[in-house]
Amino acid sequence: VSSLAILGGQPAFPDGVPFVRPPAPPLARVTELLEPSWERGVLTNGPLVRELEERCAQLLGVEHVVAVASCTTGLMLAFRALPPRGPVILPSFTFSASAHAVAWNGVEPRFAECDARSFQLDVDDAAGRSAGAGALFATHVFGAPCAVERVVALGEQLAVPVVFDAAHAFGATRDGVPVSRFGAASVFSLTPTKPLVAGEGGLVATRDDAVAHAVRIGRDYANPGDYDTQFVGLNGRMSELHAAVALASLELFEPHQAARDAIAARYLELLRGTPGIRTQAVAAGDRSTWKDFTFGVDAEAFGVDRDTLRAALSAEGVDTRCYFDPPAHRQRAYAHLQATTLPVTERVATEVLSLPIYPALALTTVERIAEVLNLVQRRAEEVRARVAA
Ligand SMILES: Cc1ncc(COP(=O)(O)O)c(C=O)c1O
Repeated sequence: VSSLAILGGQPAFPDGVPFVRPPAPPLARVTELLEPSWERGVLTNGPLVRELEERCAQLLGVEHVVAVASCTTGLMLAFRALPPRGPVILPSFTFSASAHAVAWNGVEPRFAECDARSFQLDVDDAAGRSAGAGALFATHVFGAPCAVERVVALGEQLAVPVVFDAAHAFGATRDGVPVSRFGAASVFSLTPTKPLVAGEGGLVATRDDAVAHAVRIGRDYANPGDYDTQFVGLNGRMSELHAAVALASLELFEPHQAARDAIAARYLELLRGTPGIRTQAVAAGDRSTWKDFTFGVDAEAFGVDRDTLRAALSAEGVDTRCYFDPPAHRQRAYAHLQATTLPVTERVATEVLSLPIYPALALTTVERIAEVLNLVQRRAEEVRARVAA
């Protein structure tokens, strides 16, 4: 790459590089898995759902996995199962659904700061906001484990349950331990952008029998079987069709994760020396799923700000995302809450950019994307002048 499209050159990717290409399993395999249930007329909540739950419980190292319609549903049910007796402390730097799952239970989300390097919940800041808290809730941001043992220790100190939003984290480990072994429950997402896909779907993983039981009946209106509902549940079931997709996706999980690992390693290598690029810090010994490859842009050191870099990449045909901008506490849905000042989160949200990462993405494309990005840095002055004009 010797010229930049934003400066009038030819785009590096005339056909475009999509931000995500869902790693859908072969349709023939899905059909093959689905056929026995289909022929028997079992279309939802059947043996394929059971098999998915058992296989995932083994992989995730937990006693129970309850498959649900989505991660949001699973989180809503996990909080309904506890339920917290006061505000839930969670990071604002997470996806809206984390906060929504709390608010849907009629519980107040209380937002805390993130760490500027790891983008994970700042546990010290959470501790400072924890007076009267009913639960702690942390996200494994972009598939990298958060500081789980510190969050769990704070939960113990406050005598409140800990829940993890593991939407991005199927396969993530902390010092070799699956992240789902920590806390009262961890909830995974199976939407098309995630490492394991069902189309739509979620998995509630827990080691706690009571939580598992409540989520299991909760996904079925809280009907234990006699129509005498035990609490206000919902229809959060997973269909057999989605379970078939997830089981087929599970067969490809390891090679797909290896591909993500290789892409992340290449990006890291090629961006290591780039001034002003701060890739997400992942603790040594941790395994991230690299659901997203995200970095912060320091406008002064890099030469242009995040939005200008994004525009330059877009001109080359590279699709990117600004996860999570705006952060939850700045969204209209939470404007009614007492004003929260989270300066680190607000700065991080304006700096972050996520690059394409998915199994079908060729390493040569990754290299070219990094090359373009480095050229934007070297020609930052011209890019700035062009944007200003
Ligand atoms: C951190 C986080 N939590 C929760 C969700 C919601 O997952 P679902 O779409 O399966 O409900 C997402 C979705 O991307 C997410 O990124």
